[in-house]
Amino acid sequence: MAKSKIKPDEIVLPHHTDDQANAWSESAAKYGSEFLDPFRDSVVNPLLTMLSEIGAEPSAKMVAADLGCGTGPLLQRLLDQFGDVIALDFAAEMLTQCRERLGPDRSKRVRFLNRAMHELDDLAGTLDVAVSVNSLVMPDLRVVDKTLRNIFAALKPGGRFLGVVPSIDAIHHHSLMLWDAYLDQGYSMEESERLVATHMEHHMYDFAFGKFRFGDLNQKFWQPDELRYHLMKAGFTDIRMVRLEYPWDDSLAGYKLLKNHPKTWDWTFEARRPLS
Ligand SMILES: C[S@@+](CC[C@H](N)C(=O)[O-])C[C@H]1O[C@@H](n2cnc3c(N)ncnc32)[C@H](O)[C@@H]1O
Repeated sequence: MAKSKIKPDEIVLPHHTDDQANAWSESAAKYGSEFLDPFRDSVVNPLLTMLSEIGAEPSAKMVAADLGCGTGPLLQRLLDQFGDVIALDFAAEMLTQCRERLGPDRSKRVRFLNRAMHELDDLAGTLDVAVSVNSLVMPDLRVVDKTLRNIFAALKPGGRFLGVVPSIDAIHHHSLMLWDAYLDQGYSMEESERLVATHMEHHMYDFAFGKFRFGDLNQKFWQPDELRYHLMKAGFTDIRMVRLEYPWDDSLAGYKLLKNHPKTWDWTFEARRPLS
C-alpha cells in the first residue's frame, strides 16, 4: 500500500463532528441523570486544587476558557476566579443549559461560543487557562491531535491547560475488582465473568482502542500514557497527571460489593505551553 503523503494540517476533519454535536445536544436535558459528575460533593477533585494553585490575585485579569463546557458545572467557579470567562461547546443545547444554570446576570459575564473545540484560530495566544472536563473525547485521534495543537496555540506562552479525561484503565480496574467480588461471593468463573460483562456494559466498549459508545454518543476514553503522549505531541510540557478517585456509591456498578476494594478513577491533568 502506498504511503500517505497527507500532512496533519491538510486533513479534512470528518463530518461526524457534526453528528456528535447533535448527539450531545440531544443528551443535554437529561445530562445530570446519565453522566457521572466529577464535581459532586463526595468527590475530591484535584482539578479544583490545580485551579486554586493559579492563585486568586493575578487571576482577576486572566482569560479562562471552559472547552466542552457542557451544562456548565465549572463556570461559576471560573467566574469567581477569572476576569474573562469563555464557555465553548459544539452542542447548542448545552449552552442553553449553561445560561439557565447561571441566570441572566452571570451569563452576561460569559462569552458563549457555539463551535467545535478545534476552531480556536481567533483566540490564538489569548488564553491564560484552558480547561476541558471530560470533553476531550473525540473518537477520531486526528481530531484530538488537531484540537490539542489548536488549544496549545490559543494559550499565551506560559498558559496552562487543565482537565479531566475519562479513563479506560479505570473501566478495566473496576471490572477486575467486581470479578474478584463476585468470585468471593461464591459465583462460578463463568457466572462471575458474565455478571461483570453485563453490569459493566462491556458491549459498549472497544477496549483495544479505548472507545465507548452510548447511544449515538461515541467517546474516546484514555490510558494515562496515551494522553501524556498526545499532549507532548502537541507541544505541551510540564505535564502532571493525578487520579480523580470516585467513592463507591450508587452511581457505580456493583458498589455495594466494592466498599473495601481500591477505588475507581478518571485522570486529571495539567500541562503548560512553554514560555518560549
Ligand atoms: C461529558 S460532557 C462534559 C461536560 C462538562 N465539561 C462537564 O464536566 O459536565 C462533554 C461535553 O463536551 C462537548 N464536546 C465534545 N466534543 C466536543 C468538540 N469536539 N467540540 C466542542 N465540544 C465538544 C459535548 O457537547 C459535551 O457538552
